[in-house]
Amino acid sequence: MSSIRSRLATGYAVTLLLTLGGFCAAVYYELRKPSISGLDAQLAGERDLAVQYLSESHRVLGRLVPPGGSPALAPGVAAGFQGLRDYLLVVDTSGSILYTSDSLAALPFVDLQALSAHLSPPPAMSRSVSLRLQSGREVRAIASPLATAGAPISAILVAAPVDRSAPDATVFLRSMLLVAPLVLVASAFAGYWLSANALRPVQGIIDELAAITDGRSLHRRLEVPLAGDEVSRLAQTLNGMLARLEQSFSSLRRFTADASHELKTPLMVLRAGVERSLTDPRTPTEVMASLDETLGEINRMTELVEGLLTLARADEGRAPLPVERTDLRDLVAEASETAGMLAESGRVQVATVMPDAPVWAMVDRRRIREMLLNLVTNAIKYTPDEGKVELSLVERSDGAVIVVRDTGIGIASNDLPHIFERFWRADIARSRTGERPGSGLGLAITKWIAEAHGGSISASSRLGRGTTLTVVLPLADAQSGPPARVS
Ligand SMILES: Nc1ncnc2c1ncn2[C@@H]1O[C@H](COP(=O)(O)OP(=O)(O)OP(=O)(O)O)[C@@H](O)[C@H]1O
Ligand SMILES: [Mg+2]
Repeated sequence: MSSIRSRLATGYAVTLLLTLGGFCAAVYYELRKPSISGLDAQLAGERDLAVQYLSESHRVLGRLVPPGGSPALAPGVAAGFQGLRDYLLVVDTSGSILYTSDSLAALPFVDLQALSAHLSPPPAMSRSVSLRLQSGREVRAIASPLATAGAPISAILVAAPVDRSAPDATVFLRSMLLVAPLVLVASAFAGYWLSANALRPVQGIIDELAAITDGRSLHRRLEVPLAGDEVSRLAQTLNGMLARLEQSFSSLRRFTADASHELKTPLMVLRAGVERSLTDPRTPTEVMASLDETLGEINRMTELVEGLLTLARADEGRAPLPVERTDLRDLVAEASETAGMLAESGRVQVATVMPDAPVWAMVDRRRIREMLLNLVTNAIKYTPDEGKVELSLVERSDGAVIVVRDTGIGIASNDLPHIFERFWRADIARSRTGERPGSGLGLAITKWIAEAHGGSISASSRLGRGTTLTVVLPLADAQSGPPARVS
């Protein structure tokens, strides 16, 4: 059972079942007690009457069991018991049954045996017993010796069902059996409803916490219920934890932003120095190669530092996004041109598909250029010779769709969910400097740019077959477009 709610409701119903069961048993027992003693008195009265009748008959008629044939009370004597409602049993000294009342004769043979067992051997004195019939009905009986009716009569048993004399207890039991399931079902529902009510604030907290998906939503706080109960305290504690988390996150972001910012200037100075030495005719040629390599590394590091700074600012919500109404075809065309240059004169074929009509969107041109550049660089970088890269722009009802498709090395399906993570690179591309250099920040920045514009990015790929990255950006209004979204 997964929810506390159903556990509480079940626990509640089981407790109620036990309480109700105990209560019924106690009441039933109490109700039955006087009835049993009343029944015993009634049975004793009936027995006395039967004994008196048989003794009197014996005094008048002499032998009550005719000799010969199977032993049985003389029909004339037995007729005196005609119409008797309770059970009556008369046995002889050997335990053979001499008479059974009609009601007793109607019972199954096992019941008759069970009753007659109390008369063989004949009891030395009267005794009351309770026994249960095959039908489950409880019977109370008095077995008594009978010496005054002449031989061979030796004992008599008078019995009656308990429920006949204990109507209150039986009626109570019956009504409880009828009512209890209803009470139980109703209480289980009530329990479920009550626990749902009690746990609703917890569900609220779960929903609110689920909405805090990343470091950027850590500023959110849970609503603290006014009740001041455990749930309120839980919400307060979680809020405290969120505040501490937010603080650590923001100091981490601050640190990354400050560190990248501080690194920019020395890198620029380094680059200027190396470039100057490279262009200085006095620099010995053997040093040129290592200076060139150093410049490459400096450039890569500058890119990395800039990427880090962009993401740190984006996380802090400090990255400006000055949007303007733009025809996306211009930006895609530029990207396609760059792709053509990157494709090293025909190593990879670059194709562009564009609509005839302008596709207007409110975008920060610099950022969208950066996004497209990241996508086409990846497409070309991860596509071997003779491959194809296609760049397309389509206007759809849900937005402007930019698709960058390549026939390159592809991405394994279990890698696909990670490609937008910072610093993530597939194993084959892991080395920072090898054949396909990179830092693993490109797609993280691309995703941020798409989302900051209110759009989305998705990827699909087949290993060895190629990759498709799809960006959807909201279209501008027909007239002026939506108000600038600046984050
Ligand atoms: N078009 C593609 N085809 C195959 N793999 C790709 C493609 N685009 C991205 N990837 C995989 O996703 C990883 C992350 O891409 P991302 O652009 O973020 O980093 P990068 O290209 O390695 O480095 P950089 O930060 O310089 O862009 C890549 O390392 C590569 O493994
Ligand atoms: Mg990249």
